[in-house]
Amino acid sequence: MKSSTITEKQLKKIEHYINALFLEDTTGHDFFHMRRVANMAKYIATHEGEEPSIAEACGWLHDVGDSKIFNNPTKMREKLFLFLKSIQIDAVTVDHIGQSIEDISYVEGRTPVKIYGKIVQDADRLDALGAIGIARTFAFGGAHNQKIYSDTNDEQTSIQHFFEKLLLLKQTLHTDTAKVIANERHEVMENYLRHFFNEWHMI
Ligand code: ADP
Ligand code: NI
Repeated sequence: MKSSTITEKQLKKIEHYINALFLEDTTGHDFFHMRRVANMAKYIATHEGEEPSIAEACGWLHDVGDSKIFNNPTKMREKLFLFLKSIQIDAVTVDHIGQSIEDISYVEGRTPVKIYGKIVQDADRLDALGAIGIARTFAFGGAHNQKIYSDTNDEQTSIQHFFEKLLLLKQTLHTDTAKVIANERHEVMENYLRHFFNEWHMI
């Protein structure tokens, strides 16, 4: 059975739901992260010939039920499905959304099977790159009492995160649309790191 589209009105209700859930977050998972991922997922879907409204909804909802953010992720997801039904989203579409959330919020490294999971994982990963990715990295570092950098290599630092994860991300993307954007954001990070180390070693 084919899923239907999600209306503008339903998307607005989803946006309000997410606004209430993530309003207070300061670790890089705030409302604006959800909005960027929703918009990017919509953009990727449009360019990949998939249904943009479903991708957008999956983008808004992708971090609901993330165990890094919520104490009881299963309960959060159950509540979410009740909410989606309450705004008259049909069962097949709720299933698509559920699968994309499962797909991307599970153990890291798992590859999504379904197209909306792939699109949202790409959108989420793009938000970890570039100028915004740099800001999120240091926001995360600050929230977790992590140093910016240490040249004695005795502890985990935010700069290390670039080499351990962020510079490797562009190789892991699924869609061609996301790969093009990732190349540009990758360069922004390389330039940034070059400047960072120039300044670090300047005097
Ligand atoms: P999401 O759940 O949105 O995929 P993550 O929870 O993996 O994102 O990370 C949130 C943000 O924090 C990302 O921008 C990521 O790069 C950054 N981050 C994750 N782990 C670290 C770390 N050890 N040091 C610095 N930044 C990190
Ligand atoms: Ni996310």
